[in-house]
Amino acid sequence: MRKITNICCIGAGYVGGPTMAVVAKQCPDIKVTIVDLNEARIAAWNDPDVNNIPVYEPGLSEVVAEARGRNLFFSTDVDQAIAEAEMVFISVNTPTKTYGSGKGMGADLKWIELCARQIARVSTSDKIIVEKSTLPVRTAEAVRDILHNTGSGVKFQVLSNPEFLAEGTAVEDLLSPDRVLIGGDDSEEGQEAIAALVDVYANWIPRERILTTNVWSSELSKLVANAFLAQRISSINAISELCEKTEANINEVSRAIGTDSRIGPKFLKASVGFGGSCFQKDILNLVYISRSFGLQEVADYWEQVIIMNNHQRKRFALNIVKSLYNTVSGKKIAFLGWAFKKDTNDTRESAAIYVADELLNEQAFIQVYDPKVQTEQIYHDLEYLETRSVESNRNGVSVYQDPYEACDGAHAIAVLTEWDEFKNYDWQKIYAKMLKPAKIFDGRNVLDHKALREIGFQVNGIGV
Ligand code: NAD
Ligand code: UDX
Repeated sequence: MRKITNICCIGAGYVGGPTMAVVAKQCPDIKVTIVDLNEARIAAWNDPDVNNIPVYEPGLSEVVAEARGRNLFFSTDVDQAIAEAEMVFISVNTPTKTYGSGKGMGADLKWIELCARQIARVSTSDKIIVEKSTLPVRTAEAVRDILHNTGSGVKFQVLSNPEFLAEGTAVEDLLSPDRVLIGGDDSEEGQEAIAALVDVYANWIPRERILTTNVWSSELSKLVANAFLAQRISSINAISELCEKTEANINEVSRAIGTDSRIGPKFLKASVGFGGSCFQKDILNLVYISRSFGLQEVADYWEQVIIMNNHQRKRFALNIVKSLYNTVSGKKIAFLGWAFKKDTNDTRESAAIYVADELLNEQAFIQVYDPKVQTEQIYHDLEYLETRSVESNRNGVSVYQDPYEACDGAHAIAVLTEWDEFKNYDWQKIYAKMLKPAKIFDGRNVLDHKALREIGFQVNGIGV
């Protein structure tokens, strides 16, 4: 059986970067080259100061520092890296389509197809192609079709190996995953390819945690895993609204149901709504696939998870307006947090973007502080919505590097991300500089509401 010594990964993003850095760290005998079309991104991965790498993840800069230049390389020479590799991971973006059929629902697979065509064009030796990106079930069929019709005589095996890391805990998740999933063909060649990839992971992951399936089960399982996780959040968020009407407390309800071992305690934290690049995109994709097979009830069932999430974000914003005497026009609202969760600089689909958009519609001024998100990213996120002019967004939003300055003179504070540091602020000092009555809307239920009320704040949480 084939022992892999040279891996290429196409796509140096939030998945390709951390995943392959950990492979390189754990497998010093394998040369790992991560390639990307984005020159600025590759330059940042190669920055001599390892703290400037483009993805913020606890522990990642240490992993990169250990392996980079030893057996981990970042490059823009995609052709050469593909040509030299025995195994090629495809880890490019697969966002929701923004045009044509399936607009707003299906996954845009143009970057996947480009990769397949590029691999087909430059390969002169047999290769195992690994789908690391999250893909609609049966995408491997299209990838195979492109690879197998080149006439070059080169043989390809296509595996599905979806990634289950969560941002903010990527390194930990990669070093010790609950499971690794590998889907491959039933044929002898397919099984050999699976075995070669199992052997790579077995360098640090116990073999019983490496699951193998057929390709289609693997592709579909990734969408289903994300749909189940997001569905738990929408379920608990639905109940949070009921709690607010009944004086039940969502934290108590979560604990009460989560201690049932059949339900379990994880992913029951009520919030301003889930964000991130995956949940919404992957559920929309599942809904789209179901509809395309004529499965209306299946599609409607999963779509409700998204409808509930949109509602949760909107009702958080409208609750701020209502509490501020039905108008926020000209009022300053401080945002603590912009990232979609703590310990990441990623803002894709963050609830903060949608809450800000609603409040800007109401003519509020927003003063943002986030410990890791860059100022331009915040403006870019708002511009992407195309709700108003670039200038209006810039006039309505100011970004601060200091949380106390962001809260200075504000009518209200909204907590959008659960960054740990928010808990330890000098809340007395913040209170002194705010307009009264000083209001806090804790979209993550992370602050000590009792202590804040003792200072004088009026506090609103989620479902409490
Ligand atoms: P990303 O946008 O951060 O990175 C993708 C990279 O691929 C970009 O840098 C882009 O320039 C590059 N790229 C695109 N086409 C290319 C091409 N033809 N050649 C070379 N480079 C190319 O995306 P991501 O968050 O890393 O996600 C990648 C995939 O992994 C998606 O399918 C996503 O659904 C999946 N996924 C993401 C997460 C997550 O937490 N972000 C977790 C699991 C799975
Ligand atoms: C998710 C999946 O967890 C991961 O397995 C998959 O590979 C990629 O998508 P990620 O989006 O990085 O990971 O973060 P995750 O921890 O799942 O959080 C997603 C969103 O849900 C965040 O906005 C988070 O704040 C929110 N969330 C999470 C809640 O609101 N409540 C919870 O109980 C858990």
